[in-house]
Amino acid sequence: MRAADIADQLTTVLVTEEEIHEKLAELAARVESDYEGKDLLLIGVLKGAVMVMADFSRRLHRDVVIDWMAVSSYGAGTKSSGVVQIRKDLDTDLHGKHVLIVEDIIDSGLTLSWLLENFASRGAASIEILALLRKPEAAKVEIDCRYVGFDIPTDFVVGYGLDYDERYRNLRDVAVLAPHVYS
Ligand code: XMP
Ligand code: MG
Repeated sequence: MRAADIADQLTTVLVTEEEIHEKLAELAARVESDYEGKDLLLIGVLKGAVMVMADFSRRLHRDVVIDWMAVSSYGAGTKSSGVVQIRKDLDTDLHGKHVLIVEDIIDSGLTLSWLLENFASRGAASIEILALLRKPEAAKVEIDCRYVGFDIPTDFVVGYGLDYDERYRNLRDVAVLAPHVYS
């Protein structure tokens, strides 16, 4: 696909690569101080959180364990249904661990609400969330997210790990996908 074609499929850039990196450094400093003296387990939610995990974890000047979970939330097109299925489970035992879930985006909140309950049932000592993006007006359940990058409007966004039909994940900024692409 040519660059011109990509530009035609996006409307506005909401968050630039520079803004993301600056914010992740800020969040990393907070996490370092909040978890001082404690072991920390970062759990990335595949696949969207890959870029956030890579950039955020490398801004931490401390030792961490990183694990991944893949879930799919069944729903048509660009909406989450809240019915979550585990595609790849964790390799780590959560019992007694301080868990920080690393997510790309909180939309309805249904996926994270399911994950929080699931991780709590495995006996984690504490569970907090870091999400690069959050859509406050799309919330169907309240999620207590300690580390939020940016609050954004409800438009469907892509880039920096976020996809539509597995495309656009490699865009460096977060941009609004033009509605003509998915409608
Ligand atoms: P919920 O609604 O459960 O959504 O909070 C969680 C997952 O849905 C995906 N999602 C998006 N993916 N652009 C995307 O590329 C978006 O605007 C968007 N909103 C939700 C994402 O995988 C998230 O983890
Ligand atoms: Mg995701």
